[in-house]
Amino acid sequence: MESRSMSPAATIRRLRADDAACFKALRLEALTISPESMGSTFELENGLGVEWFARRLEDTHTLGAFRDGELVGTLGFVVQQGPKHAHKGRLFGMYVKPAFRRSGLARLLANAILDVAREQVEIVQLIVVQDNVPARRLYESIGFVEFGLELKAAKDGGRYYDEAHMALDFSRAADST
Ligand SMILES: CC(C)(COP(=O)(O)OP(=O)(O)OC[C@H]1O[C@@H](n2cnc3c(N)ncnc32)[C@H](O)[C@@H]1OP(=O)(O)O)[C@@H](O)C(=O)NCCC(=O)NCCS
Repeated sequence: MESRSMSPAATIRRLRADDAACFKALRLEALTISPESMGSTFELENGLGVEWFARRLEDTHTLGAFRDGELVGTLGFVVQQGPKHAHKGRLFGMYVKPAFRRSGLARLLANAILDVAREQVEIVQLIVVQDNVPARRLYESIGFVEFGLELKAAKDGGRYYDEAHMALDFSRAADST
């Protein structure tokens, strides 16, 4: 499904293979500026060709936030594989350029991707570094609940990162309204 929504200041639309070059550039920026928040590394993704990012965009549902035609934020969604897990999906790759933060773009991206996810799965999960307060506050504010904490889940440059596992169960969210 093609997801499009507008606010007076931003356009949210699905990224496709044609967007791979600017998507890769934004990923590399994210991995440079916020390496502690991301599950990947600059070294790994810098070595991948644009065609890898094009495939990634076609294999997932990744939304981009645009301001004046510039890609300034992203959020991805993918349905889990296998017959016993296909009722669940995963969010990944949330990032907003620093100059565009605190203006509601991440919330706009999250709500738009949840509209897509609600049509395809019952539960959406994500992983967030435990001390990433901005991201955790955002996810909690839209209904995600922590269901697990993995200590020393990631290790980078000799430093360990604990990761919180969060989920939003659409059936429970509906019950509580
Ligand atoms: C986390 C991130 C995506 C938020 O983007 P954003 O566009 O600034 O977020 P929004 O303006 O939509 O804010 C939505 C909510 O997030 C929370 N939030 C965002 N920034 C925050 C901050 N600096 N401190 C505390 N809460 C914050 C608030 O609950 C906010 O709601 P409010 O404005 O009503 O208080 C952005 O800071 C970012 O890209 N960080 C680096 C990458 C990252 O951490 N990604 C998440 C990986 S799991």
